[in-house]
Amino acid sequence: MAIKQSLPLIFAATITGFSAAAQSVFTVQPNQIKAEIQATMWGVFFEDINMGADGGIYAEMIKNRSFEFYKPLMGWTVEGKKVEGELLILNRGDVNTANPRFLRVQVQKEAKSMVNEGFKGMGIKAGLRYDFSFLYRQANAGIKIQVELLNELNEVIGKGEVIPTSVGDKWHKLELSFNATAHAQKGKFRIIFSGAGVIDVDMISLFPSDTWKGRKGGLRADMVQLLADLKPGFVRFPGGCIVEGHDLSTRYQWKKTIGPVEERTLIINRWNNQMANRLAPDYYQTFGLGFYEYFQLAEDIGAQALPILNCGMACQFNTAEVVPLDQLEPYIQDALDLIEFANGDVKTPWGKVRAQMGHPNPFNLKMLGVGNENWGPQYIERLKLFTKALKAKYPEIKLVNSGGTDPDGERFEYLNTELRKMNADIIDEHYYRKPEWFLQNTARYDNYPRTGPKIFAGEYAAQTDKVVSVNNKNNLKSAIAEAAFLTGLERNADIVIMASYAPLFAHVEGWQWTPDLIWVDNLKAYGTPNYYVQKLFANNRGTHVVNLIRKEIKETVGDGIYASAIIDKQSNELIIKVVNASEKAQEVIFNVDNKKGIQTIAKLNSLSSNSLDDENTIAKPKQIFPEESVIKVKKHQIALQLKQNSLHVIKVKLMD
Ligand code: AHR
Repeated sequence: MAIKQSLPLIFAATITGFSAAAQSVFTVQPNQIKAEIQATMWGVFFEDINMGADGGIYAEMIKNRSFEFYKPLMGWTVEGKKVEGELLILNRGDVNTANPRFLRVQVQKEAKSMVNEGFKGMGIKAGLRYDFSFLYRQANAGIKIQVELLNELNEVIGKGEVIPTSVGDKWHKLELSFNATAHAQKGKFRIIFSGAGVIDVDMISLFPSDTWKGRKGGLRADMVQLLADLKPGFVRFPGGCIVEGHDLSTRYQWKKTIGPVEERTLIINRWNNQMANRLAPDYYQTFGLGFYEYFQLAEDIGAQALPILNCGMACQFNTAEVVPLDQLEPYIQDALDLIEFANGDVKTPWGKVRAQMGHPNPFNLKMLGVGNENWGPQYIERLKLFTKALKAKYPEIKLVNSGGTDPDGERFEYLNTELRKMNADIIDEHYYRKPEWFLQNTARYDNYPRTGPKIFAGEYAAQTDKVVSVNNKNNLKSAIAEAAFLTGLERNADIVIMASYAPLFAHVEGWQWTPDLIWVDNLKAYGTPNYYVQKLFANNRGTHVVNLIRKEIKETVGDGIYASAIIDKQSNELIIKVVNASEKAQEVIFNVDNKKGIQTIAKLNSLSSNSLDDENTIAKPKQIFPEESVIKVKKHQIALQLKQNSLHVIKVKLMD
């Protein structure tokens, strides 16, 4: 085993600063395989909530670039004296139903200018290239366009100019790149029309050039990097409740999210007005991050794609509209077409669309979710129709079905019974519960049926206050409770095949829901302690769960120690995850029951902090961060002092 020389070498049983009161003894049997761990085990769940997409990972800096928001000039401020008729919003209606509105600017003598405020301002980096583009048409040339980046003091920190020369009825795209000369945390963008004439403009867009993989019109690299660092097994997208919509008209329709961005129909984001105390009237889904980009993202970071589709039901917390069963066909067709879009040959209609967008090779879709948090007989009825059609054409695709909103109660019991009767492939269970629930339920799956549907822990997060409370914190307390719970999922990897924390992203100024895995502002992003728990599990996934037996000592049962043991057959390593979710330091001993034992030097990764209330922040992004070290162990025994409220991952080479 290669040990990094720079890591501190610690004698495991002599870590200072502890007075271990209790001791837990485990026997690990690396040769007693209990289950294979699926490559999908630890994944991520992306939903456009908390400015996750627009204003978040989708790097577009202009808010309301196509004037389609409810108020067409939302996000824009017209400067100078207002002259009636000089700036008009026109609606092409039937000519372009996807993006009907555009702006007509008439310039006579004085230049006209407008400022876009961005999403909570614009993060601008000194020296970076910015790519501006817009669509225009004009009968005659005569207008010059200047653009400026502004800092918080309205000083110009980057500029460029361009003269649109094409004339006629057709729309043209013009692009211009320029560099920022200074930094701004909350910058703005100004567009100035000068000269004389009339020009129609639309899709006024600005992107930083440092997007993920340098893709034009792409994603924020720092946010994608945090996902890539997790090495997730899958990406579940696009929701969440936005799949369902407030009503059926605002449900997520994947076909409207592909193709050229100017042809993607924007809709209101369900989180715009969902939280009465966190209203976000300017929150829309422009779908610049659409289904093609989701598949591409999953592929980029080595994860399987798991799209979740609307099952003919709007959010049951909102209108609860359902599509009559005899009118469900278009919804089912959307699901069938999606599989073709992802996997179909380039000669198939939807495979061709994928190829035209730049990806002739299939995305290799293996799973599809039908419904998000849907429940009741109305869900089962619709699901049965979906299942019949999907299984008939694509028997190889595993279907993910909703286990409802809660891990227990009437809704859950009903769905669990019905889905098992249907022999569902995978049941998507959600748990937004207090940290104590996570600790009390680490054995949830120990007694689950070993045959029948597999389990996907599709959305979970420990709520330090209560669900949808604005006081929930991403603190050490919630992270440690989740870590303890994850050891339970791992021990049951024969039936639990996937898990993802929720929600994934939140903008520090634009969130609706907390807690969230990753927080960002306009320029920075950081992982919460909960993120590092995910990372420690996902980066140490291993290949097989092995037997771990705890010596039952009455007084220490319920002492807050939780553990799981796995091996990695490729690297021939034993990986133990152990959590001390108690308020006291404790000693744990793992007796390794194999013939030749283990290497006597192991790698240790520990996550802890001084207080359960500790959190990471933009200013202190790594206050809680896994500490790496190497420890000395015995040939057949690992002894470790565990600080209170801590998670540890021990990795050691097996000698057999
Ligand atoms: O993750 C936030 C929301 O919680 C999701 O949209 C929904 O599925 C669940 O209720």
